[in-house]
Amino acid sequence: MRNEAILVTGGAGFIGANLVAMLLEHGEAPVVVLDLLTYAGNQANLAEYRNDGRLIFHHADVNDTVVVDRILAAHRPTRLIHLAAETHVDRSIDDPEPFIRTNINGTYNLLQACRRHLKAAGPSARERFRFLHVSTDEVYGSVDGDAVCNEAAPFAPNSPYAASKAAADHLVRAFHRTYRFPAIITRCSNNFGPYQNPEKLIPLILLNCLEGLDLPVYGDGGQVRDWLYVDDHCRGMLTALLEGEPGAEYNLGAGNLSSNLAMVHRICDVLQTLRPAGENESLRRRGASTYAELIRKAPDRPGHDRRYAVDSGRIEAELGWRCSVSLDRGLERTITWYLEHRNWCEHAQAQSDGRKRLGTAT
Ligand SMILES: NC(=O)c1ccc[n+]([C@@H]2O[C@H](COP(=O)([O-])OP(=O)(O)OC[C@H]3O[C@@H](n4cnc5c(N)ncnc54)[C@H](O)[C@@H]3O)[C@@H](O)[C@H]2O)c1
Repeated sequence: MRNEAILVTGGAGFIGANLVAMLLEHGEAPVVVLDLLTYAGNQANLAEYRNDGRLIFHHADVNDTVVVDRILAAHRPTRLIHLAAETHVDRSIDDPEPFIRTNINGTYNLLQACRRHLKAAGPSARERFRFLHVSTDEVYGSVDGDAVCNEAAPFAPNSPYAASKAAADHLVRAFHRTYRFPAIITRCSNNFGPYQNPEKLIPLILLNCLEGLDLPVYGDGGQVRDWLYVDDHCRGMLTALLEGEPGAEYNLGAGNLSSNLAMVHRICDVLQTLRPAGENESLRRRGASTYAELIRKAPDRPGHDRRYAVDSGRIEAELGWRCSVSLDRGLERTITWYLEHRNWCEHAQAQSDGRKRLGTAT
């Protein structure tokens, strides 16, 4: 990568923090982060690079036209990775409005700002500029049987979150078709790894285990997700950004399909080896001798998709990306990280509703 700046929106969130670390560890380019620091963003996620002069942080909203224009003019990035979004499906059920504002309007604002930026840039910078829009397998909706979605699958989003991401995808695609805007779209499956907000399944279950609290499983727990370790996703995004064709769309999945209930059991098993239940005082107080005894059925999520599964064949065949971290290895790394970062968990929860049940639409 040349030493031209790369701009990462949402760089203080879960995937953003892992991506920024990868860029700084393995690249030389300045990394400019634009993040609103909502409940899901935390500047402490980037603390390790506080003294690295290549990391430049802007506390800003993707909807703020003036500030986004100013950031683009100041740093003249030739690469942009757009991660900033509202991301929790349950929250989108309770209140879709921030999802519309950030995920749809914010993406539109960023696209327009980039077009203005490109008009002002010289022909060579214009030629090199790439915009990577990070989307989700949820835009395809629930996938029946043992089918997998390739990039040509029709959109059928079922939650306000998925619908807002699908709308943003359409805008990005339209900007490429209409204006030859050099955008690439990736659609990944469920990520897991360090820095994920405790409102999401894996950290939520893990922290509830440690505190001896119920492990809520929505509905019958039979919903199937494909678990992608965050480092594999970050490598996939960078592969698409640096090697992908403008206008191309790439799915990124791991092929690690698991029902939610099986995932909860898996977390209990890994935790048992790292922090045995017999040594957990909170569990003893509840009269439980195994983590799995804490599993409880919870009301299902309205509109809950039964199964997601994407085909990553295009990025594998065309760009040589491969998923390299197995579910077991990724889970062990993730759980170890959370065990070693309990203060981070406290802070992340203090910024939000902790692990309160949301999105029942009652
Ligand atoms: N986590 C997953 O499993 C997953 C799967 C598929 C796609 N994605 C996509 O990847 C991206 C990142 O996901 P994540 O899990 O890291 O999310 P996250 O919720 O952990 O982080 C989102 C970040 O965006 C920032 N942000 C929110 N609104 C903003 C705004 N208006 N302006 C600027 N910054 C704003 C937040 O402060 C936060 O730092 C999202 O676009 C999401 O849709 C995530």
